[in-house]
Amino acid sequence: MTDAPRHGRYENLALSEAEHFLEHGWLKVPNTIEPEYITSWMSDLWVRLGFDPEDKSTWTSEYYHMPHHRQVRAELVAPRAWGKIVDICGGEQRIDPERERWIGDNFIINFGTQERAQSDPTDDVPLHDKEGFHCDNDWYRMFLDSSSTALTLVYCFTDIPPRGGGTILCEDGIEGVVKHLYDHPEGLDPPHELEDLCTHVKTCKRFTTVEAKKGDVFILHGLLPHSNNYNYLHYARVITNPHVNLREPYNLNRPDGDYSLLEQVILRNLGRDSIPEFKPTRERKFWYSRNITFKLNRVEGELERMIAAAKARGLGPKDVDSLYLRGEEAVEEFKRTNGLLLPVNEATGLHTEQHPA
Ligand SMILES: [Fe+2]
Repeated sequence: MTDAPRHGRYENLALSEAEHFLEHGWLKVPNTIEPEYITSWMSDLWVRLGFDPEDKSTWTSEYYHMPHHRQVRAELVAPRAWGKIVDICGGEQRIDPERERWIGDNFIINFGTQERAQSDPTDDVPLHDKEGFHCDNDWYRMFLDSSSTALTLVYCFTDIPPRGGGTILCEDGIEGVVKHLYDHPEGLDPPHELEDLCTHVKTCKRFTTVEAKKGDVFILHGLLPHSNNYNYLHYARVITNPHVNLREPYNLNRPDGDYSLLEQVILRNLGRDSIPEFKPTRERKFWYSRNITFKLNRVEGELERMIAAAKARGLGPKDVDSLYLRGEEAVEEFKRTNGLLLPVNEATGLHTEQHPA
């Protein structure tokens, strides 16, 4: 891929890419996941699931979140994407060095259904009517300047053709999100209902649906409303959805004007050059992510199937690549880097079942 000329302040981002991110709130980086991770992590997907790839009657869930067994530093998994992420964030020094700084095999699979595959494309649900638009924000008190989910990333481990269940992005939905957050300096606590942030999506006009080749990465501003779309093709669409977290809240009042692209998106959507008056009126809070529990509940079953599959090939548990078989230290590192040492939010409890999206 040939990049357009870079702007002086960016090391890895072409000027056209910076402009695209500002204008649309997202950026596609084609063919950037190192093939070795796609090959190795996808190799035991069906063993972990316990489904038969050739028999769709065994695909018992339309939508399916899996836990991690491996995680690798983000710059190793998709180096070119990482370079652009760093530029969008305004430099690596602004990025949290631990939380979600790894990319893993915690796949999200959209299988679709036979019924959807047999439906007429003219009956597809219009994008703005799709349920479930949201921002990824289930583990912190959310303010306009919160940078805990600075970026939502979509790592594509399979091709995603048209009508193949690619994520829907609501580009003109950012404006309503930032206005709502500006009007609520007290912050929003999880669980976030649709009416918190994304009711306006129904009246939005600019939607993009993710279409991809395996190996592509999409970089989404954390305040870009998005939703899963139906997979009308009834195949296993596989992605992961990690995030980038910053060390400090956004600074929306930089006298030198040196705003990151993340901050510029917020200012632009509020029609402002700076927002000196914005101050959170409550303390910042962070909790254990309520959405992770039901995925962790799947670890044991997956491990059993991975070990049984190894045994069938004359191998033992030591040959199974899982952080859960590498001792307490590996498990602790996983917990630390995924927010699992934070307190549980008593007000929301934990999700113990697969949610629909
Ligand atoms: Fe999401």
